[in-house]
Amino acid sequence: MNTGVEMLDSQVKCIINALSPTARVVEIGAYAGKLTIAMAKKGCRVFSVDPYLPCHDKTDMTFGENMQDVKKIFLEKISEYKNIEYFCGTSACALTSCDYLVYDAIVLDGDHSAKGIAIDKAWIERLNKDGLIIIHDYADFFPAIQKFVDTELKGKYQELLQESSLIIFHKTEVEK
Ligand SMILES: C[S@@+](CC[C@H](N)C(=O)[O-])C[C@H]1O[C@@H](n2cnc3c(N)ncnc32)[C@H](O)[C@@H]1O
Repeated sequence: MNTGVEMLDSQVKCIINALSPTARVVEIGAYAGKLTIAMAKKGCRVFSVDPYLPCHDKTDMTFGENMQDVKKIFLEKISEYKNIEYFCGTSACALTSCDYLVYDAIVLDGDHSAKGIAIDKAWIERLNKDGLIIIHDYADFFPAIQKFVDTELKGKYQELLQESSLIIFHKTEVEK
C-alpha cells in the first residue's frame, strides 16, 4: 500500500470536524479506507465507492499498485462497521445504481481526470441543499480538478475551508 495516496491527517481532521455525526456521506475513491473509517467512527453513514481497477496513468500515485491487495485491506478494515456500505464499481456505475440515495456530504477523491470529474459533478447536483462538497487534490498537479473547482464551484457556492489540497464548500449559493 502506498500511504502517499492517502489524505493527510490534518485534512481528515478538517473533514471530520465539518461533518455532523448523523450525516449520510457518499465517498468517491476510498483507497485503503483512511477517511472512510474516520467518518464511520464519527457516526456518519458512509456509502463508499471504489472499483479498485489497475491504474494505467503513469502520473497517478496508484500506478503499478496491485489494487486488489488494497481492496482486501479496505474490506478487512470496514468489516466491523455496520454504518459503511461499499459499492464495488466506478462513480458512474454507482450513480445509476443508487438513485434512491439522499446524502448530506459528498467526498470527491476518485478519478482526477477531466472526464472523471465531469461524471462526479452529477453527485453534487443530487446532494441535499446546504450539504457539504468535499474535494481532495485541488492542486497544480491535478489541473482538471483545479479547473473544475475554479470555474464551477468558486463564486457559486460558499467556501467553508481549505487545508492544503483539500477544499470544502457548503452547497449554499453565494449571494450576488
Ligand atoms: C487518491 S485515492 C483515494 C484516497 C482516499 N480518499 C483516502 O482518504 O485515503 C483514489 C481512489 O479512487 C479510486 N478511483 C479511481 N477511479 C475511480 C472512479 N471512476 N470511481 C470511483 N473511484 C475511483 C482508485 O481506485 C483509488 O482507490
